[in-house]
Amino acid sequence: MSEKYDASGVPTTGHVWDDDLGDFTNQPPKWWMLGLAASAIWVVVYWIYYPSVPNAAGNSYFKGVGGWSAIKEMEEDKGTVDAVRKKYEDKIKGMTPAAILADSELSEYVKRSGKVLFGDNCAACHGTNGVGTKDKEGLFAPILTDDDWLYGGKIDTIHETVVGGRQGMMTAHKDSLSAQQIDDVAKYVLAMSEEGKEKADTNAAVAAGKKVFEESDCTGCHGPDAKGMQAMGSANLTDKVWRFEGSLDGIKRTITYGVNSGDPMARIAVMPSFKEAGKLSESEIKKLVVYVYKLGGGQPDEAAAPAAAAAAAPAAAPAAK
Ligand code: HEC
Ligand code: HEC
Repeated sequence: MSEKYDASGVPTTGHVWDDDLGDFTNQPPKWWMLGLAASAIWVVVYWIYYPSVPNAAGNSYFKGVGGWSAIKEMEEDKGTVDAVRKKYEDKIKGMTPAAILADSELSEYVKRSGKVLFGDNCAACHGTNGVGTKDKEGLFAPILTDDDWLYGGKIDTIHETVVGGRQGMMTAHKDSLSAQQIDDVAKYVLAMSEEGKEKADTNAAVAAGKKVFEESDCTGCHGPDAKGMQAMGSANLTDKVWRFEGSLDGIKRTITYGVNSGDPMARIAVMPSFKEAGKLSESEIKKLVVYVYKLGGGQPDEAAAPAAAAAAAPAAAPAAK
């Protein structure tokens, strides 16, 4: 043992290396010892107060004298949230979607819960937040964020759509029109979309198609102006928005086999009825309607905008865009 250790006056445990490195027997500082004792006591108190030790069989545990449990805490929190919600939920029960929309506090509330409901019930077909989903045949379900509507973007129309479902029907033309006629009329439809209806109407190259359009049954459903009729969800054929494939071949297929026509090659477009499915409560449907309206494409009407009610404006022309 060297002099260095003797000079410190503190004995070592006997472990000394290299003459200047050793284990001393110094006591730890008092504050540290107190801290250690306090935490030992804390552990015991904690163990007794809160649920802790499992029993030997492993199927139960010591519940703690404080009566705390994670489930109890969650239920208390949920109770607090439900109490806040109840105020809104009670109101919504007795209101129409238009009235909810007119109430800024309620419509803000509904917009948030609507987002979750939409994700659970609608997004599979309409895409996250209503941006639409595409497959190789075009849009699987329409985009709900724009102002292009098959059936209409008024709050009551959207309500009708979600409650009752929709199923646009276009007859197949494979038997009523020749291949040449289908080719011509498809070219006319394409020209209306690309050049606008007026130009297409004076376009010599598609004149034959125009004649087919006017003389077969097209105008009966799509209207003389080809802008569609929202009452039956027939698409506007003069805009650049395509429900199904907008290529010449795609348009020919739609015309040849129709939509929901029963033909095996027909385009399928079915919006389920959410009232029938019974999956959603009436309040949930109303919330979704307000949510969809607020996605961006909602069109105001008399009931939704009380200020305009006095004007008693007639319903807008179908498929106005
Ligand atoms: C199984 C797929 C599917 C589900 C689920 C679905 N939709 Fe649809 N939805 C469609 C299709 C397809 C159409 C277009 C129907 C047509 O072309 O006639 C449509 C049309 C609509 C329209 C009319 C759009 C317009 O342009 O007029 C609205 C509004 C709508 N859906 C809202 C909803 C809401 C809200 C939900 C959830 C509660 C929902 N949809 C769930 C497939 C679906
Ligand atoms: C019985 C009514 C009916 C008749 C007749 C009809 N259509 Fe349609 N058509 C519809 C409906 C409804 C849709 C929209 C289907 C949907 O989106 O669910 C549609 C969709 C279309 C589309 C697809 C539009 C898009 O955005 O993808 C084209 C193209 C079309 N029709 C052309 C014609 C032509 C051309 C004729 C005449 C040869 C015709 N239709 C006759 C009801 C009809």
